[in-house]
Amino acid sequence: MTMNIIKVKNYDEMSKKASELVVNQIKNNPSSILGLATGSTPEGLYLELIKKYNNGEVSFKDVTSFNLDEYVGLAPDHDQSYNYYMNEKLFNHVDIDKNKTHLPNGIAEDLQQEVEQYEQKIAEAGGIDLQILGIGTNGHIGFNEPGTPFTSRTHVVELDESTREANSRFFASIDDVPTHAISSGIATIMNSKQIVLLVSGKSKAEALHRLINGDISEDFPASVLKNHPNVTIIADEEAFSA
Ligand code: GLP
Repeated sequence: MTMNIIKVKNYDEMSKKASELVVNQIKNNPSSILGLATGSTPEGLYLELIKKYNNGEVSFKDVTSFNLDEYVGLAPDHDQSYNYYMNEKLFNHVDIDKNKTHLPNGIAEDLQQEVEQYEQKIAEAGGIDLQILGIGTNGHIGFNEPGTPFTSRTHVVELDESTREANSRFFASIDDVPTHAISSGIATIMNSKQIVLLVSGKSKAEALHRLINGDISEDFPASVLKNHPNVTIIADEEAFSA
């Protein structure tokens, strides 16, 4: 197993550590291609990046970004869309060129064409240098649910009930949670040169335990990361409590 594991005390330390890795990446290559994630987990990382930008420690002006996923059916200005999330949590607060930020279009008329074009845009940019990942309680990465082929490229996915339930906390009711999403595929994620997985809290403890100790299997999507040559897991004490 080649995964590099950094154990930190809590969520704040995880976020700070992750921000250092991102800033180092941008310092080494100001035109880095970043792979970005949404969810609660990376919010602290984005806050730290904004702080570092405000302190003059980093500039995003030549950075390109590709997000992992987007809900099908939510317009970019819908307050639960991942487009909206990225603007609110990061893009509006730093000097990134919005023309260089990319998320799948969840309201594309032709979703098949959208996923193919998204995959192609990542390839044309030269691939992801540093991919930030969270993990679902069922081991999903991006929105690649258990059973997703490791060979998958950007695709339309049907969300697991458990994922819809977990994410219903952001919506008025579970009925408002979309049933489908566009997600970077597992092969798309694995193409990244470097991957940083963030894991925080008790609710992720079982998933982290299975990731570290379990087999590599499509039943547990995150397990594929063991096949990647450059993965860093930053996880806090609660995440290690299983
Ligand atoms: C979401 C996202 C994932 C994210 C995961 C965990 O549904 N599609 O990219 O990593 O589930 O979310 P959270 O960080 O809120 O626990």
